[in-house]
Amino acid sequence: MKLIAKGNTAEIYEYGNNLVCKLFYPEYPMPYIKHEFYNATVVEKLGIKTPKAHKLIAAEGRDGIVYDQILGEKLSLKLYAISGELSGMWLDAFVNFHKQLLQHSIEDAMNYKDFLKMFVTDEETIAKIDGLADGNYLLHGDFHPANVMVDQNDNLVLIDMMNMCRGPRLYDIARTYFLLKYDNNVQSKYLEQIGYKLGDIMPYLDVILAIRKNEMMRQLPI
Ligand SMILES: Nc1ncnc2c1ncn2[C@@H]1O[C@H](COP(=O)(O)OP(=O)(O)O)[C@@H](O)[C@H]1O
Ligand SMILES: [Mg+2]
Repeated sequence: MKLIAKGNTAEIYEYGNNLVCKLFYPEYPMPYIKHEFYNATVVEKLGIKTPKAHKLIAAEGRDGIVYDQILGEKLSLKLYAISGELSGMWLDAFVNFHKQLLQHSIEDAMNYKDFLKMFVTDEETIAKIDGLADGNYLLHGDFHPANVMVDQNDNLVLIDMMNMCRGPRLYDIARTYFLLKYDNNVQSKYLEQIGYKLGDIMPYLDVILAIRKNEMMRQLPI
């Protein structure tokens, strides 16, 4: 199989006609892979642009998911494509795509508080999580420019649904803000354009930071 991309949890290989296989790193837990598969089907049913998840497979001693192939490139490559300068047009597209996504309500997804509690060891953080708002919006949970692809017609396509859950919009916005930490310029422009201030997302950021170390340990190949 021909390797076409690498992520943090998996490698993406060509898989016949217009399909790819997302092959997770060895020993990546099967329940998480099934969870991503399920989430991908839920998102597709909502009519959000995303590659269809066809089946679970095992190949080369690893487990994976067969998806439709998106011909194009990830949005992170477009953001700085022209002479290394940030593209305002693609940043706008990224923010608008997130706004659209956050219009969807959902019931068939994990409560974001349960997601956060999977990584929590101390009572103080659990109490903070319990104190946050509830909500029923669809939250991607990992919405950053390498999890959005741009197809050949310049449509944005959502990928990588492992951390999808339901909850208040501010949680997902705080996650994206946190994930954009490598570029302060993009980070602050994102927050401004999506219409919030640092104070709005602070209680969520606090918890996101508290769980991050444990969360990353889950994502590393064992
Ligand atoms: N369906 C797809 N078609 C084409 N390329 C894809 C597809 N899914 C993922 N990719 C590429 O593989 C990269 C990693 O995929 P992703 O699902 O984000 O894995 P990870 O969970 O490891 O982050 C993406 O950034 C993208 O470049
Ligand atoms: Mg990814």
